[in-house]
Amino acid sequence: MSRRDPYVPAAGFHAFSRWYDPIVRLTTRESAFKRRLLQQAGIENGHRVLDLGCGTATLTLLIKQMHPQAEVIGLDADPTILRLAQAKAARAGLALALDCSLASALPYPADSFDRVLSSLFFHHLAPEAKRQAVREIFRVLRPRGELHVADWGRPQNVFMRLPFFLVQLLDGFTPTADNLAGRLPEFFRDAGCADVRETSRFATLFGTLALYRATKPA
Ligand SMILES: C[S@@+](CC[C@H](N)C(=O)[O-])C[C@H]1O[C@@H](n2cnc3c(N)ncnc32)[C@H](O)[C@@H]1O
Repeated sequence: MSRRDPYVPAAGFHAFSRWYDPIVRLTTRESAFKRRLLQQAGIENGHRVLDLGCGTATLTLLIKQMHPQAEVIGLDADPTILRLAQAKAARAGLALALDCSLASALPYPADSFDRVLSSLFFHHLAPEAKRQAVREIFRVLRPRGELHVADWGRPQNVFMRLPFFLVQLLDGFTPTADNLAGRLPEFFRDAGCADVRETSRFATLFGTLALYRATKPA
C-alpha cells in the first residue's frame, strides 16, 4: 500500500475505507462527541454550514437532520469516500450537497459560511497543510462566523497515549504530531481567529478526543 494521493484517506489507506464507519462507531464514542460538537456550534435556521473533511458524511447528515433549515455542504478530497457518503445519504432519504476538493483551496467565495465544522480531519494534514486549511477556513467564514473542531488532542494519560500509536501507524506520524502535542489551537490563533478554546475532551479506545471552538473577529 502506498500513498499516491495528496491527502490521507479516511481510514489511512483506501483499502480500509469501507470499514471506516463501523470502526469509528465502535471505537470513538462517535454519537456522543459529534452531538456535543453540534450542540456547541449553535447552528440557526438559514445558516450556511461547511463540514470540512466530511468523509462518509456522518456529521453532515446529523447536521442536516437536526437543522433542516440550514444549508449544509460536505467537502472532502477523496472521490471514493464521497461516493460512500452519497449512498449513505440516499439510504437516509436525504439529499446532500457534497464537493470534492482539497482543503487548501476551498471552492467558495470569501465570507460565505456562518459555521465551519470538522471532525477527525486535521490529524490527516501535515503542518503546512494544516496552516493552509485554517487560512482557507478563515477566508470563507463570515465575520463573527465560527469554527468548531473535534479531533485527537493531547492524551490525558498513558492509557490514552499508547493506543494512539495505532492511529499514527494508519494516518502517519507527521500529520498526527501537532494533535498529540495539543497544538491545534495555535494554528487557529495564527490564522487570526479569536476566542480560541478547548471546550471538552472524550476518552476513547484510540486516545483523547478534544473539541475546540474559534471565531473570526467582526
Ligand atoms: C478520518 S476522516 C474523517 C471523516 C469524517 N469527518 C468523520 O468524522 O468521520 C478524514 C477525512 O479527511 C479527508 N481529507 C484528508 N486530507 C484532506 C484534504 N487535504 N482536503 C480535504 N479532505 C481531506 C479524507 O479524505 C477523509 O475522508
